[in-house]
Amino acid sequence: MARTKTIFSCQQCGFQSPKWLGKCPDCNQWNTLIEELPVAQTKHSRALAAPGKPQKISEISSCEEDRLRCGIGEFDRTLGGGVVPGSLILVGGDPGIGKSTLLLQATQQLAQKGTVLYVTAEESTRQVKLRGERLGVTADHLYLLAETSLEQIKARIKELKPDFLVIDSIQTIFTSSLDSAPGSVSQVRECTGQLMMQAKGDGLPTFLVGHVTKDGAIAGPRVLEHMVDTVLYFEGDPGHPYRILRAVKNRFGSTNEIGVFEMQGDGLREVSNPSELFLAERPEKSAGSAVVPSLEGSRPILVELQALVSASSFGTPQRTAIGIDHKRVALLVAILEKKVELSLAGQDIFLNVAGGVRLDEPAVDLAAIAALASSHLNKVIDPQTVLFGEVGLTGEVRAVSQPELRVKEAARLGFNRCVLPQSSLKNLDIPPGMQLIGVRHAGEALEAIFI
Ligand code: TYD
Ligand code: MG
Repeated sequence: MARTKTIFSCQQCGFQSPKWLGKCPDCNQWNTLIEELPVAQTKHSRALAAPGKPQKISEISSCEEDRLRCGIGEFDRTLGGGVVPGSLILVGGDPGIGKSTLLLQATQQLAQKGTVLYVTAEESTRQVKLRGERLGVTADHLYLLAETSLEQIKARIKELKPDFLVIDSIQTIFTSSLDSAPGSVSQVRECTGQLMMQAKGDGLPTFLVGHVTKDGAIAGPRVLEHMVDTVLYFEGDPGHPYRILRAVKNRFGSTNEIGVFEMQGDGLREVSNPSELFLAERPEKSAGSAVVPSLEGSRPILVELQALVSASSFGTPQRTAIGIDHKRVALLVAILEKKVELSLAGQDIFLNVAGGVRLDEPAVDLAAIAALASSHLNKVIDPQTVLFGEVGLTGEVRAVSQPELRVKEAARLGFNRCVLPQSSLKNLDIPPGMQLIGVRHAGEALEAIFI
């Protein structure tokens, strides 16, 4: 009898090896290789829609006008303006963050435009129905299917011919052409592959829900992100009601576009004015608080940075950063020590972005420095002032992208002073009532902001 050949595939990144290895040479994770049967060589290479024939780019009709808006403004924005026919969209996030809630609410709107099939592979149809009642999801053309077998799902799709498909979640469905367990890399990859063929072949827009592992990657992660057209991450701090939907990959729109939601008793509510929300609880006139107009995709959002600097009672002072890279904070603290001559040695330093938002762009450097200095010197920053700019290692303030958008958003929310890099002042339209203060060095900025 012929021996069945098996392969070992990494459950983190999909790397495959003919023999077992303790450490995956691709993603350097330990103990992630699991023995699996190889994927059967299925012949689906010709399943894509159009037969291969070269076409002039000018003759190909753009699908821009075909985008289907799902009626939830923030969701459409993150998708780049709506759902493109035949696209495969992955919605990832921690368990319990609200992925199923978001998609159920979206299907309510989509079901006005066509038939929606919502495959619930984790919960029973009754559970979804109960939740739907709470969310006010009553659409007539919304069909629920509790099924985990991909073959069954495909058969039901053939019968129903839906216009939209939701799979909740990709990690719980399996195809019988593979022997490995649902959720393993090869299952997830094969199921996604087949759903992609179907999405492209029939022009059926498909949403996939994917759970994220502890270290922040969608389980069976990089393999999935390659295959789909759009990857959206739904993130947020479980302690806060705010949820942010972030596009990290989008073949049909800009990435880093975000949508902001608030989780309420009756589901997710869109927040179309996030700056107001994030500044709502800002303490007036207290040291250690600075406001920065940060750019999320194409959209400026004002957020508050809070710092607390206090004498440490232990030998090694603590440095804690929430919502901002801690290495960046360590760097800014060193700049404050060496270039602005504030003595922070022996001080515990805490830096927090209010509202559970995460800031990743260097434009927040100047505001972080201001918040730290404000707390350390116990001086209050003028509550009508915002700051932005990247700070270099010599303490110089460098230009950042889109200064005009940032200044405009600050003006819209009633701020009247903005401290920004001197080099960004060129050709800048100044909104009425706004005073712009260009600075070249972090020290100069600190001179301008305190009341
Ligand atoms: P869910 O959509 O089930 O999360 P996921 O699919 O990402 O695992 O969301 C569950 C959480 O959302 C749960 O902790 C309760 C909360 N929630 C509300 O606060 N209000 C609501 O109306 C709903 C439906 C859920
Ligand atoms: Mg769910």
